Amino acid sequence: METPSEAPPELLMLVAGAKGAIGTTLATAVAALQERPQLVLSGLTTAGRFSFLGDCTAVAMAGWDRTGEAIDAAILRHGVLPEGVWRSFETGLREIPIFQAPHASQPMADQIRQLQADMQQCRGRYPQARPVLINLLPAACNLADPHRYETVDQLVAEADQGILPDLAYVLAAVDLGIPVVNFSPNTVELPAVCRLAADKRVLLAGRDGKTGQTYFKVVLASALKARGLYVDGWYSLNILGNADGLNLMNPDNACGKLSNKTNLLDDILGYPVGERYGRSAHKVHIDYYPPRGDAKEAWDVIDITGIFGLPMSLRLNLQGRDSILAAPMALDLARWAVALQSAGFGGPVADLGFYFKKPVGEKAPLTFEEQLTALENLEAQISARIGESGKI
Ligand SMILES: NC(=O)c1ccc[n+]([C@@H]2O[C@H](COP(=O)([O-])OP(=O)(O)OC[C@H]3O[C@@H](n4cnc5c(N)ncnc54)[C@H](O)[C@@H]3O)[C@@H](O)[C@H]2O)c1
Repeated sequence: METPSEAPPELLMLVAGAKGAIGTTLATAVAALQERPQLVLSGLTTAGRFSFLGDCTAVAMAGWDRTGEAIDAAILRHGVLPEGVWRSFETGLREIPIFQAPHASQPMADQIRQLQADMQQCRGRYPQARPVLINLLPAACNLADPHRYETVDQLVAEADQGILPDLAYVLAAVDLGIPVVNFSPNTVELPAVCRLAADKRVLLAGRDGKTGQTYFKVVLASALKARGLYVDGWYSLNILGNADGLNLMNPDNACGKLSNKTNLLDDILGYPVGERYGRSAHKVHIDYYPPRGDAKEAWDVIDITGIFGLPMSLRLNLQGRDSILAAPMALDLARWAVALQSAGFGGPVADLGFYFKKPVGEKAPLTFEEQLTALENLEAQISARIGESGKI
């Protein structure tokens, strides 16, 4: 028999894109944690970590979205969860405050002001809880020449706010001292943003959640490298039929995601795959295929050679569920971000590379083993800096 949670929230997730496929799955997970926690706890990597953050179930969510539809209509539209699952948490779901997102045509300074007022209102509602921003906005084009914005003031005044709406959320949060988890593939960690975060000791975790195909790519590439098996080529295909998949059909929106999915292989292996052909033999394709909905499928064809250069080949077929894989990671990352910030970490933390396709920060761990070790080291540093009281 499960015991419903009665603890007041100690973690407050502020979610940009709260009515999207991941956002609504996360909302259902938060509601389920209050009533039937075992449905979710088994899928968390942080359930046994960071006891100073309180019980894993002591979590609340609020957020923003552009769509004004009710959350239950959004859940039905995404079709991620069977109705029999999410309907039992309907009361909890309706209690989640979701604000109207600022309009893209507003100057960025006004957007930031509006978002900060919403953030402060949420903090007032849950005064005990540690807030964290989770960015789940759609994949978007990156800003051209991000280095030209030397200061945040210049960025706010000059950047085209319509291109990367994520920036207003991130700047609003960092300015209020709220840590940021960037689950989207969008490059919000511009030099000026990183400088501000480092100065204010606000944690930045990102970018691009490593949920399915790329997670297994890191595992397999690390295993092949450890055995000295040479990777001659790697072909990856994804089909998905959710809103993210449709959005990624626009090449401008897909370029960040594709480069995040592609670059890491050569880095893990230490040589360019396809070097003997004079061009990359690591190919990644994403295709929108409506019948699949959120139940994404991915295939990998991996060509390897052993001694005497003799060829062998490996096939991987992942029949995944995008948002079911992503939502628990967003919860885990929220806990990591507040734990790290509470322990005095600020700016981008590359050692969270286990969770991301493109870890931001210096010297990110590359292989699967290095990424697990980096997490253990981070956890040890947090424990060493924080006593039982949860204070440094
Ligand atoms: N699912 C995965 O496995 C996975 C893995 C890595 C990264 N991601 C990324 O996570 C992000 C979210 O994925 P998703 O499947 O939930 O996408 P989605 O398209 O279903 O959700 C995005 C939500 O953001 C809302 N939105 C758009 N502009 C907004 C704005 N300016 N302010 C507030 N809300 C706004 C949309 O209305 C929508 O509800 C995407 O960038 C995706 O590429 C997903």
